[in-house]
Amino acid sequence: MSRGQYPSTRMRRNRMTAFSRRLVAETRLDTADLIWPLFVIEGQNIAEPVDAMPGVFRHSIDQLLQQAAKAVELKIPAIAIFPSIDAALKDETGSLARDGDNLVCRAVSAVKAAFPDLGIICDVALDPFTSHGHDGLLDQDEILNDETIAVLCEQAVHQANAGCDIIAPSDMMDGRVGEIRTALDAAGHQNVQIMAYAAKYASGFYGPFRDAVRAGASLGKAGKSTYQMDPANSDEAMHEIALDLAEGADMVIVKPGMPYLDILARAKAEFGVPCIAYQVSGEYSMLCASFDKGWLDRERTILEAMTCFKRAGADAVLTYFAPEIAMIIRR
Ligand code: PBG
Repeated sequence: MSRGQYPSTRMRRNRMTAFSRRLVAETRLDTADLIWPLFVIEGQNIAEPVDAMPGVFRHSIDQLLQQAAKAVELKIPAIAIFPSIDAALKDETGSLARDGDNLVCRAVSAVKAAFPDLGIICDVALDPFTSHGHDGLLDQDEILNDETIAVLCEQAVHQANAGCDIIAPSDMMDGRVGEIRTALDAAGHQNVQIMAYAAKYASGFYGPFRDAVRAGASLGKAGKSTYQMDPANSDEAMHEIALDLAEGADMVIVKPGMPYLDILARAKAEFGVPCIAYQVSGEYSMLCASFDKGWLDRERTILEAMTCFKRAGADAVLTYFAPEIAMIIRR
């Protein structure tokens, strides 16, 4: 392509007026691209602040319904529900994950009954339920792969029975997407989607989330690095995504978000499938801390981050800022 030279070409011309900047914008924000993660706890009429995430709460199911109503009102297409389980109910094997009447399943049925058109996403992983905080079954210091998958399949079917629309395996065991697909189909849930955390990295940016769901305080020295990916790797993420797609994933997640936009851009370019970014808890909290200090402009920075996710190739973004972004777009 031949391009002009200065002074006939002046890049700044298109930027001179607000109308022109709008005309040439390549990326636009849309409420339809938002997924709002929410935390649920047992009890009645509870909204308990998460210390490490200003403005984020653990809601009891009755209060969660009000948040869901807000999502519907703001036209946010989907929410992701994460349970915060009482320590007394956790055990080594995360047995509560296999109980179809557990907190997350009850939350899903309540939201589905009240708002049938709101999309509901559930993580499949054992970490909210295990006393050690790992995503899988632990033997000495090894996380067992195949044994864990069997439990994840049961967990997924319970969540689908409760009315979950999209199952999101976030555990990073090998082969779990295919087996979960088979289990869902066998239970008559052929139309339940799978949004695989395909490229999920062992990240320091999950710290505040582990506070929110009260999990992982006791993870060993290796943390989750024997199953989540090494932040040093990019080709490996493409390999992971290819495997999850071959096993039947309908959409893939890249996580964390902003430090991993290169992975997101590669995923979108190389596979051309629905790619979802997760702006994780640590990204949320570090932005909030700066807003609080007056170091960053809140609205401008939140919208810029969202725009960059879209520009890099995200079809949708999981973000704790979802309602705020939706309200700004509406104005
Ligand atoms: C659990 C899970 C985690 C997140 C989503 N699902 C934490 C982890 O893997 O340790 C992180 C979300 C966030 O930080 O916002 N498997």
